[in-house]
Amino acid sequence: MPNVFGSPHKGTEPRHEQVVFCQDEASGLRAIIAIYSTALGPSLGGTRFYPYGSEEEALTDVLNLSRGMAYKNALAGLDLGGGKAVIIGDPAIDKSEALLRAYGRFVQTLNGRYYTACDVGTYSEDMDVIARESRYVTGRTVEHGGAGDSSILTAFGVFQGMRAAAETVWGAPTLRGRRVGVEGVGKVGHRLVEHLREDGAEVVICDVNETAVERVRTLHPEVEVVPDKDAMVRSELDVYAPCALGGSLNDDSVPALKARIVCGAANNQLAHTGIEKSLADRNVLYAPDYVVNSGGVIQVADEIDGFDFDRAKARATRIFETTRKIFALASDEGVPPAVAADRLAERRMSEIGRLRGILV
Ligand SMILES: NC(=O)c1ccc[n+]([C@@H]2O[C@H](COP(=O)([O-])OP(=O)(O)OC[C@H]3O[C@@H](n4cnc5c(N)ncnc54)[C@H](O)[C@@H]3O)[C@@H](O)[C@H]2O)c1
Repeated sequence: MPNVFGSPHKGTEPRHEQVVFCQDEASGLRAIIAIYSTALGPSLGGTRFYPYGSEEEALTDVLNLSRGMAYKNALAGLDLGGGKAVIIGDPAIDKSEALLRAYGRFVQTLNGRYYTACDVGTYSEDMDVIARESRYVTGRTVEHGGAGDSSILTAFGVFQGMRAAAETVWGAPTLRGRRVGVEGVGKVGHRLVEHLREDGAEVVICDVNETAVERVRTLHPEVEVVPDKDAMVRSELDVYAPCALGGSLNDDSVPALKARIVCGAANNQLAHTGIEKSLADRNVLYAPDYVVNSGGVIQVADEIDGFDFDRAKARATRIFETTRKIFALASDEGVPPAVAADRLAERRMSEIGRLRGILV
């Protein structure tokens, strides 16, 4: 079984604050809610509805994902901790009003220690159903005060991170005249292409979905299309932007990579620990994924105070400064940016979390 409590020995990394197993036999609900940290505020993270092969697999996923959310929310400058939930089942078969509402009642029992949102297998309409039983729901439909499609600020944030990387490498925060490869032109990727073209970058794309490619080509016939990820990685690029699935940076792609910068929206781009070091050894500047793709969580988190797009966009603009700060820290401390990002997140959780000790 995954280790929920961590080691009892002093000095080892603190682990999850709370992990809740939820079951409602009548509706078939089986869910796990994991709260990694509430040091900065209530935990926030989406609900993944997925046909896990076993409870153990679901638990491992929710523990990893909730920890990741704590780091992402910390560096997004939010007053929110990190949590995540998984519902075990096939959303196409098992999702029902009763199941979602039963889940909502469990979210409500946590009394605001966990806010939920959309993730793989759940949509804004599902959040509206869950919200009939719980006050602690974001990612809702626009009709219910929700923020709408989070890929808008995700793409904007990735572009801010890329500008910071360009400044670090080439001295100016612009992609003008640079050749940028966008792998995956779905919801986020196609919006990123818009920002890049507006900034004067030369864009190369690839996608397994022909319709997604055509959507970009219709608006931008000048954009070059390469057959697949392998061709993209091996082509002459200045920047590589993984915006499809995780694991794009692996033992095959990193040695072949021609780009000087990697900065994209996909979650979990590093296939395994140590890849961040391989990138640094090849002098490739890697903008940590969870930092540059935090525009989406910034967008949905804004719903908690009543959604205001301009306020959320202003916060997402700060991804530029945060990414820059991470590169500076990485250089000062002689570590890859992925390590510097984790350190900065841990520092904020501990410095700000400590203030909770001052009774008000
Ligand atoms: N949408 C958000 O707000 C958000 C926020 C944070 C992170 N992300 C991450 O960003 C990535 C993209 O998200 P999205 O919302 O645009 O998803 P999406 O499903 O709309 O787009 C992904 C695109 O990648 C393509 N693709 C899949 N496999 C591919 C492959 N092997 N080679 C090339 N293209 C491939 C798909 O056809 C699709 O067009 C995901 O990893 C997601 O987890 C998204």
